Amino acid sequence: MRDTAEKLSGLTLFLHWTVGLTVIVLAAVGIYMSENEVFALYPIHKSIGVLIFAVIVVRVYWRFVNGWLRPVAEHRAIEYNLARIIQWVLIIATIIMPISGFIMSGAGGYGVSVFGLDIVAAQFDPMSKEAIPHNAMLAGFMAEVHEIAGLVMIVAIVLHFSGAIKHHFIDKDNTLKRMLGKK
Ligand code: HEM
Repeated sequence: MRDTAEKLSGLTLFLHWTVGLTVIVLAAVGIYMSENEVFALYPIHKSIGVLIFAVIVVRVYWRFVNGWLRPVAEHRAIEYNLARIIQWVLIIATIIMPISGFIMSGAGGYGVSVFGLDIVAAQFDPMSKEAIPHNAMLAGFMAEVHEIAGLVMIVAIVLHFSGAIKHHFIDKDNTLKRMLGKK
C-alpha cells in the first residue's frame, strides 16, 4: 500500500523508525567508543552498521518508488523547502555512513565482521599487534568522511526532530501523529 496525505503505509512507518532509532544509537555508541577507546564496542557498532545498511537500501528504494511524503497541511514555502533539504541530507548521510565505515575498517586492516561472521578479514602484525592497512590513504580519507558525515547527520536529526515537535505543539497538525501511525 502506498502512502497518502492522511495515512502512511506500515512499510514507511517500519523503515522510518527502524533506521531512525538505529542510526541515533549507532551515532551515540560511535562517538562514545571512539572518544573513550572502548574497543569492545567496535565489533557491535560495525555489525549493526552493516546490517542496518540493508534496511537503509530498502528505505531509499521505497522513498523513490513511493515519492516524498505529502505535507498534512499547507505551509510556507521556506518551511517546506527546509524540511525537504533536511530529508535529503538524512537520506544521503544514512547511505554514506555505513559505506564509509565499511571501507575505513576494511582498508585499514581492522576487518569487518557481522557478529563473528567475517566479511573482510582483519590483518594484524603478530609482533606489534597493530593493524596492517591494505590502503592507509583510503582508510584515512574514509575515517574523515565517517566523522564529518556523522556530525552533519546529527545536526540534520536535531533539526528534523525540532520540525516534528513544531508541527505537533505549535502548528498542532497531524504530521507527528501520522508518522506514529495514529489517526
Ligand atoms: C548507519 C550506520 C553508521 C552510523 C550512523 C555510524 C556512526 C558513527 C559515528 C557518529 C562515529 C563517531 C565519529 C568517528 O569517530 O568517526 C562512528 C565511529 C566509528 N564507526 Fe561508525 N557508523 C555507522 C556504520 C559503521 C560501519 C558499517 C562500520 C564498519 C564496518 C563503522 C565503523 C566505525 C568505526 C571503526 C568507528 C571508530 C572510528 C575511530 O575510532 O576513530 N561504522 N560511527
